Amino acid sequence: MARIVGGMGISHTPSMGIEYDRAHGGNDHFPTHWQPWFDGTRPARDLLAELAPDHMVVVYNDHLNYFTLDNYPTLAIGIGDEFRQMDEGWGPRELPPLPGNHEWGIHLSQHLIDNDFDLTVCQDLGIDHGIFSWLPYVVDLPFPIPVTPIAVNMIREPLPRPQRMAALGSALRRAIEGFPSDQRVLVVATGGMSHQISGARFGIANADLDRWFLDKLPRNLDELMKIDITEYMALGGTEAAELTLWFAMRAALSDAAQVQYSFSTFPQITGCGVLVMTEP
Ligand SMILES: [Fe+2]
Repeated sequence: MARIVGGMGISHTPSMGIEYDRAHGGNDHFPTHWQPWFDGTRPARDLLAELAPDHMVVVYNDHLNYFTLDNYPTLAIGIGDEFRQMDEGWGPRELPPLPGNHEWGIHLSQHLIDNDFDLTVCQDLGIDHGIFSWLPYVVDLPFPIPVTPIAVNMIREPLPRPQRMAALGSALRRAIEGFPSDQRVLVVATGGMSHQISGARFGIANADLDRWFLDKLPRNLDELMKIDITEYMALGGTEAAELTLWFAMRAALSDAAQVQYSFSTFPQITGCGVLVMTEP
């Protein structure tokens, strides 16, 4: 049977992707405020190479680039063999599509729906910076590892409760361990850390909250889940709600999982961090 070899929590932001393209498309360097993020993702990249996963399950959120306000599922899964890149307004980036694997997609959707997660099942799931912004920082191009994307509504009220994200992680673990192969699986959750991109509090962030969250998540998931999602929004900006997506990654791992790497920085607008944990 397949097994989870580790997990990664990581931030996403549109500018993260833009700066990657500039640095790799002629500039040959990152601006001063983004260089720490590139440098800080090098150990994560090395750890992923060591873990050598055969498959990645990525819990992320779309930002009105594929789903619309008229049709916004709380939970959706992509089951195709390839996922296209959504154009977020500045033209498609020079990246290959995200590779998928329909056997994994069908297996996970069957198991999760059997266990009361009412997923919207998508054959064609267009992906935005929720995955494409950080992925080139931690794996080489063309993307070598097939991905099953699971999209969670972080846009339109009502949002799923933080406890639901942890339950999703636990269910994912059981589902992955029921996949009939000896594949190695990495569970990834991605959400921006503190930030707010709308309203009167536009631009507020909280790097202290980001560091505190990274320190707490590996060993104190129960404590973090007791905090109401509106409290994360109050402390770190409305979009800090995306931190609750990280709960799915931690809950998919065992109590014995160990932190291998943790890093955070604040380039602009959105707190950026990465956490890599491995199973013994
Ligand atoms: Fe986001």
